[in-house]
Amino acid sequence: MRVLKSLAELRKWRQQQSEVALVPTMGNLHDGHLHLVKTALERCDNVVVSIFVNPMQFGANEDLDSYPRTLEADCQALDALGVSAVFTPQVSDVYPRGLDKQTRIEVPGISDILCGASRPGHFTGVATIVCKLFNMVQPQLAVFGEKDYQQLQVIRLMTQDLSLPVEVLGEPTQRETSGLAMSSRNGYLSPEQKQQAAALYRTLQKTKVELGVSTNFSELEKAAEEDLSQAGFVPDYFSIRNAKDLQEATAEDTEWVILAAAFMGKTRLIDNLRVSNTSAR
Ligand code: PAF
Repeated sequence: MRVLKSLAELRKWRQQQSEVALVPTMGNLHDGHLHLVKTALERCDNVVVSIFVNPMQFGANEDLDSYPRTLEADCQALDALGVSAVFTPQVSDVYPRGLDKQTRIEVPGISDILCGASRPGHFTGVATIVCKLFNMVQPQLAVFGEKDYQQLQVIRLMTQDLSLPVEVLGEPTQRETSGLAMSSRNGYLSPEQKQQAAALYRTLQKTKVELGVSTNFSELEKAAEEDLSQAGFVPDYFSIRNAKDLQEATAEDTEWVILAAAFMGKTRLIDNLRVSNTSAR
């Protein structure tokens, strides 16, 4: 496995390859990431994993400095899976003119709601780095996790709007046996908090069942937030949306997604669950 530490190294390597699949990550890889890599390997022999903690997608008071960096262990795990190359550029290589002067990619509307409302600028940071990674790596396929559902929709729209020749594949969320969605940020939780945090998925599942009998969305959302508070969370949002454009749910939608973000202690966790509307024609 090649470890490509600069854009120049990546470009040189890329010239010698034909088809490439990309799995973009910020490192600290867990089984959820490894599932994305295995999916990419099923579709393409030549898989590149990028490991880059992207400063542009972190807010001023967020965990950029403390975000876990475990490059050696990550590389070992990727090598064992048969990945062709890991791309680990420096911030100065990705943003040579500095973050303030960097050209940005903004996907309007969808970037300002839900997580975008709580984390202003976050999705502009995500869209910009993913667009840059697509241009740098020039993959035919890129694989992302559905745990970050809003992020996935932002990336899909960005790829479509900019006519980028990349297939964007979303893969189902990988979960602990408790139901807790796998996430690098779970590492911030104490064992007790980790137990408690499983209530996030349970609440999504309960709401999914309730959607079978009620489309009083605001009532369901309010009840779910109360459940989360009871379970020790401080809810950020709990929202039932149209699965495609993330607009407010209506009874006519064919598919909904229930999205939640909530704090367990200082750790902000997100999760979601899709629901088919069996009553929609
Ligand atoms: O999901 C992530 O890990 C990041 O947001 C991504 C897509 C790698 C962009 O930095």
